[in-house]
Amino acid sequence: MKMLLFIIPAILLAVAAWMYADATMHGNTSKTETAADLQPQRVLIAYYSWGGTTRHAAEEIQRCTGGTLLEIRPVTPYPEDYDTCVQKAKEDIRAGVRPALIPENTGVDMTAYDTIFVGSPNWWSTIAPPVATFLAQNDLSGKKVAFFQTHGGGGMANCERHARALMPKATFLGSISLRDIQKDSFAEAISAWVKGLKKEKNDK
Ligand SMILES: Cc1cc2nc3c(=O)[nH]c(=O)nc-3n(C[C@H](O)[C@H](O)[C@H](O)COP(=O)(O)O)c2cc1C
Repeated sequence: MKMLLFIIPAILLAVAAWMYADATMHGNTSKTETAADLQPQRVLIAYYSWGGTTRHAAEEIQRCTGGTLLEIRPVTPYPEDYDTCVQKAKEDIRAGVRPALIPENTGVDMTAYDTIFVGSPNWWSTIAPPVATFLAQNDLSGKKVAFFQTHGGGGMANCERHARALMPKATFLGSISLRDIQKDSFAEAISAWVKGLKKEKNDK
C-alpha cells in the first residue's frame, strides 16, 4: 500500500512532464513570431472606416499583431448614401472640419501602448476628418506609429504626409496603401508589411 502511495504520484508527475515537453516541442506554448516582437498587449490599432474596407485591413493587422482594435467613430456619422457622403466629406475637408468623436475615442490611455497602427480611407486625397480629429486629440509623442490606408485608385496621395503632420513627435515605422478592390490580397500584403516593420524596428 505504501508503495502504491509513492508510485501513483510518480506516474502522474511523469505524465505531466511528458505532456509539457510534447506541447513545447510542437509550439503550443511558444509565442508567434510577431507577438514576440510587438508585444500584443502594447499594440493599438486605431482606424476609421466608412464602408468596411479599412476595417478589414485593421482586422488583418489585429490578426498579425494580436493588438487591440479601436474604431474611430464620429458622434454624427457621415451619410450612408455614397454621393451624399462624398459631397459632405468634400465640404468638411475644404473647411478643415474636425468632427467630434465618441467619448471612447478621446483621451485614450496611450500609456498602455507603445506601438500604434493608424488607419484611414483616402478621402479626397487626404485622411478622413475623423482620423484628423483622433490624431489631434490623442498625443502620440514618443510612440512608434505605422500608418495604413485604403483607396479607390488614387493611392497614398497626401494621406501619409497629412497624418504624420498631426503626430510630429512619433517615431514613424512605415506605411501601407491598399487598393479597395483588392481586399482578397490584404491578408498577404499586411502580413509581409508587418514582418517588414518588425525588421526595420529591430535594425534600428
Ligand atoms: C468621401 C469619399 C472620398 C473618397 N475619395 C477618394 C480619393 O480621393 N481617392 C481615392 O483613391 N479613393 C477615394 N475614395 C474611395 C475610398 O478611399 C476607398 O473605397 C476606401 O477603401 C474606402 O474605405 P472604407 O470602406 O474603409 O471607408 C473615397 C471614398 C469616399 C467615401
